[in-house]
Amino acid sequence: MISDNLIMQIKSKINIEDMISKYAVLKRDGKNNKCICLFHSEKTPSMVVYSDTQSFYCFGCAVGGDIFSFTMKVENLGYIEAVKYLCEIGGIAFDISDRDNQEIETKNTIKNINIDTARFFYNNLKSADGKKAKKYLLNRGFSLNIIKKYGIGYALNSWSSLLDYLKFNKYKLFDMYQAGVIAKSQKGRYYDQFRDRIIFPIIDIRGNIIAFGGRVLDDSKPKYLNSSDTIIFKKSKNLFSMNFAKKHIDRSIILVEGYVDAISLYQHGFKNVVATLGTSLTSEQSRLISRYAKNVILAYDSDKAGEIASLKASNLLSEVGLDVNIIDLKDCKDPDEYITKYGSDRFSIVINNSQNITDFEIYKLKKSIDIDTDQGVSNYIKQAIILLSKIKNPIERDVYILRISRDTNISKDIITSQVNKVIKSDVFKKKKHQYRELTNLTKFNTDNFIRGNDNFLREIKAEQGIIAFIFKNTNNLKDVLSNITIDDFILDIDKKILSSICSLSEKDESMDFSILSKNFSEKEKEYFASILVKFDIISNKKEEIYDYIDILVKHKQRMTTEDIINMDPDKLRDFYINLKEKSI
Ligand code: CTP
Ligand code: MN
Repeated sequence: MISDNLIMQIKSKINIEDMISKYAVLKRDGKNNKCICLFHSEKTPSMVVYSDTQSFYCFGCAVGGDIFSFTMKVENLGYIEAVKYLCEIGGIAFDISDRDNQEIETKNTIKNINIDTARFFYNNLKSADGKKAKKYLLNRGFSLNIIKKYGIGYALNSWSSLLDYLKFNKYKLFDMYQAGVIAKSQKGRYYDQFRDRIIFPIIDIRGNIIAFGGRVLDDSKPKYLNSSDTIIFKKSKNLFSMNFAKKHIDRSIILVEGYVDAISLYQHGFKNVVATLGTSLTSEQSRLISRYAKNVILAYDSDKAGEIASLKASNLLSEVGLDVNIIDLKDCKDPDEYITKYGSDRFSIVINNSQNITDFEIYKLKKSIDIDTDQGVSNYIKQAIILLSKIKNPIERDVYILRISRDTNISKDIITSQVNKVIKSDVFKKKKHQYRELTNLTKFNTDNFIRGNDNFLREIKAEQGIIAFIFKNTNNLKDVLSNITIDDFILDIDKKILSSICSLSEKDESMDFSILSKNFSEKEKEYFASILVKFDIISNKKEEIYDYIDILVKHKQRMTTEDIINMDPDKLRDFYINLKEKSI
C-alpha cells in the first residue's frame, strides 16, 4: 500500500498546476486554470484545473481526477508507477510494499525479456542461419549501420529457438507469453510467435523495447506480424521511430505508413520521421506528435488507400492544431521506393513542394473530374465549395475562392455566398453538438453509478450537493450528520465518499482529494471529480444544503404502498390521523 504520508509528501512537493503545465499551457480563469485538454482533440481549452481541490476535469471529454490520475493517463502508467514517477520528479524517496512492487516487477521482467529477445534476433542476423535475411536487408539498401541503429534482427525458421533461449536465461513461460514473444496454442503449448521473419523492434519514447514487428522475406502472407497489445504496449499510443525522431524535430515531423519507410528515410538523413504501427493514425498518436512538432508532412503510400488514409490522418492532426502538408510521390508507391530510386536531394524537393491539405484535395478533385463539360463544372464546384468551407482563415479562403472562380468562370460572389451558407450550417450544427455534449457531460461520469435509481434523481442530486459542500466545508459535517445518516443516501458511491469523509475527519486529517479517493477506482474518482465540478459551477451555499437535507429526510419518511399495507391496524390509524392533521 502507498502510505497517506507518501501521498501528502508528493502533493506538498508538486502541485497539480505544475504537473499539468509540463504538458500544456495553463491560462488563469478566475480562481482556477484552464488548458487545452490532453485527452481529447480540441482547439479551445476545456480542461479546468482546480487549485483548491487539486483536481482537474475536462468539460470536453469528462476525464478528471487528481495529480495521480493525471499522471497515469498522460504518461500511460499504472497507479504505483505514477506514484513512483512523481516521487522521481519531486526527489522523494519511494518506498512501497512487496505486493505493489509486483506490478512494476512484472513490467520490468517483460522489458527485460524484450531486450533479450531483440538481442537474440539481432545476433541471428549475424549467424549462418541469418544469411538469407541479412542479404534481404542489404538488397533493400539498408546499411549495416542502420541495421544496428534500429536493432533490426531475424527470427529463425523454428518453433522454439527463442523459447529455448529465454528459458536458458531463466525466464518463466508465463512472462514470455505476457511479453507477447511466445504464443500459446489451444492445447496449451507454447511456441515462438515470430518465425522466419525480419524483426523490427518497437521502442517507446523512453527507450524501452515494447513490441516487435516481423516481416516475411518473400511474398507470403501475412506480410507483417506485429505484437499484440501487452501490459507495456498499446499500439494506439505509440509511433515507430519516435525515440529517434524526437531528437531531430525542428518544427516538422514526417509521418509515414511503414517501418521500412521510416528506416529508409532516416538512413537518407530525414531523421524526423515516424511511422504508425500498421493501423490508421489514432488521436492519441496525433497528440503525441503535437507534443514535439508544429507541422506534419504526410508521406503515406500513393495508392488509393494511402490517399484516403492521408485525408483521415490530416483531419485528426489538424484537430490537435498541427499544420499538415501532403507530399506527392509521383510514380512511386511509397517514400522508401522514392528515396531509394531518386535519392535525398530529390526527396527534399518533394518535401518542399508538399501541398497543404486544401491544395492537395483540389488537385485530386480536379484530376478526378472533367471540367470541360457543364456537368463536370457543376460537380467540381459543388465539391470544391465543401472543401473551401473547411478553411478556417478567411483570407486564405478568399484566395481559394478566387482560384476556383477562375478555374470555372463562375462569379466569385456566387461561390462566396454558397461557401458561407455551408459554413453557417456547419457552425449551427457544431454549436448544437457542443451544447448536447455539455449537458451530457456529467451524465457520462455518473450514469453507471445511478443506474437503477432513476426514480430518485432529486435525492441523488441532494446527496451529491451535500458531499460537495462538506468536502470543502468539513466543519459543517457534524451539523449535517445530526440530521441524516449515511444510510439515508441512495447511491453506494455517495455512501462510500461520505464514509471516507467521516473517517478522515475522525482522524483529524484535512480533506484531500487524493487521500480520500485512495481506494477508489478511476471511474469512482472521475465520478467524485465530476460532482465536485458540477457543484462548483452551480454554487453550493449553506442554505441550499438544508434544502438538500430536507429532501433526503422527506424521502426517508415517505412510505411505500407496501409499508402501508403491512402496517398493523393501530399504527395505520395513527398514520391516518397524522396525515389528516398535516393536511389541515
Ligand atoms: N502492416 C501490417 N500488417 C500487414 C501489412 C502492413 O501491420 N499485413 C503495417 C506495417 O507496419 C507496415 C505498414 O503497415 O510497415 C505499411 O505496409 P506496407 O506499405 O505494405 O509495407 P512497407 O512498410 O512498405 O513494407 P515493404 O516495403 O517491406 O513492403
Ligand atoms: Mn514499402
